[in-house]
Amino acid sequence: MSQRIAVIPGDGIGNEVMPEGIRALEAAARRFDLKLDFRHFDFASCDYYLDHGRMLPEDWKEQLGGFDGLFFGAVGMPDKVPDHISLWGSLLQFRRSFDQYVNLRPCRLMPGIRSPLADRRPGDIDFYVVRENTEGEYSSVGGRMFEGTEREVVIQDTVMTRTGIDRVLKYAFELAERRPRRKLTSATKSNGISITMPYWDERVQAMAEHYPNVDVDKFHIDILTANFVLHPDWFDVVVASNLFGDILSDLGPACTGTIGVAPSANINPEHHFPSLFEPVHGSAPDIHGRNIANPIGQIWCGAMMLEHFGHEQAGRAIVEGIEAVLAAGPEAAPLTPDLGGKGSTSELGEAIAAAIRDG
Ligand code: NAI
Ligand code: MG
Repeated sequence: MSQRIAVIPGDGIGNEVMPEGIRALEAAARRFDLKLDFRHFDFASCDYYLDHGRMLPEDWKEQLGGFDGLFFGAVGMPDKVPDHISLWGSLLQFRRSFDQYVNLRPCRLMPGIRSPLADRRPGDIDFYVVRENTEGEYSSVGGRMFEGTEREVVIQDTVMTRTGIDRVLKYAFELAERRPRRKLTSATKSNGISITMPYWDERVQAMAEHYPNVDVDKFHIDILTANFVLHPDWFDVVVASNLFGDILSDLGPACTGTIGVAPSANINPEHHFPSLFEPVHGSAPDIHGRNIANPIGQIWCGAMMLEHFGHEQAGRAIVEGIEAVLAAGPEAAPLTPDLGGKGSTSELGEAIAAAIRDG
């Protein structure tokens, strides 16, 4: 059976790292005898917006809904189109319409990369942040009253539903159960946010009863962020509401070095809709067009996509290929400048593809 992948490079360096992501996927497909069928789309880019007056065609849901995965680069060219238009008009539509309620980010210190935290070595930092991606603090419930007067009042509500919380918790517990440490940490703030966060804690406790093998703890978000920096080795799977997860899922990868290597996935675990795999970084207009962008974030996204399809071994081979090339260091491997090397985007991509082929 072949897997159908929609390729949406978007803007800026999205177009430079995407070919390397595909190259790595093709290398893994050859080695493990998988059939991957790629189709390319030019929408969800600022150039498309300038031509059509919108980021996506009207029938984008029909065009994309039948794919198994959306392989996404980055969107945004603030000189051409304001960010709230480009991002809201594309990525956020995908996440919501395709009910991608899990945002998953691995935080893993790779060989050859210096963590900004002192004395951390590969193996010391290896956890996942699981962020609720559809509700919570990012609701559109609220409004302004008495605008422009001294009495101005602004309200935005947090919306938590039992279904919404339970489904992301279930995903996180199942992920923890599959990992060797079987540990789950919940981000809360029930000492200050007195209605929604105690409810979140209650649901965590209720879900924990179904997973007796998983070790559960919780931290208030303020001390949790401190512990990400002070004790990243404490964590295995960290589950959080939309806002807390947003913060943790930038902080986690930041503790593991350059932004150019971090991947993320927006997942609909039931496969009712395609899931979306995109590097954490944006379109990097400052380095666009110079063939120096680090392609590893995009390549690692390909590994996550294969794992989502059930091709765990092939996904692992991609991650091992990345690790092998990084471990060789800037003297022996064509690492990009952000990794202290002199290599180009395409040279690094080719080196990783070769490592995947050779196993
Ligand atoms: P950015 O991630 O594009 O760049 C931040 C800094 O990191 C820049 O100095 C850039 O050169 C560097 N960088 C990023 N990716 C790199 C890579 N692969 N290799 C080497 N260096 C890399 O974030 P910024 O500048 O805040 O945003 C630029 C545009 O990207 C904006 O329009 C923004 O809205 C958009 N954006 C889109 C995202 C997405 O598509 N999911 C995520 C973040 C930003
Ligand atoms: Mg963010």
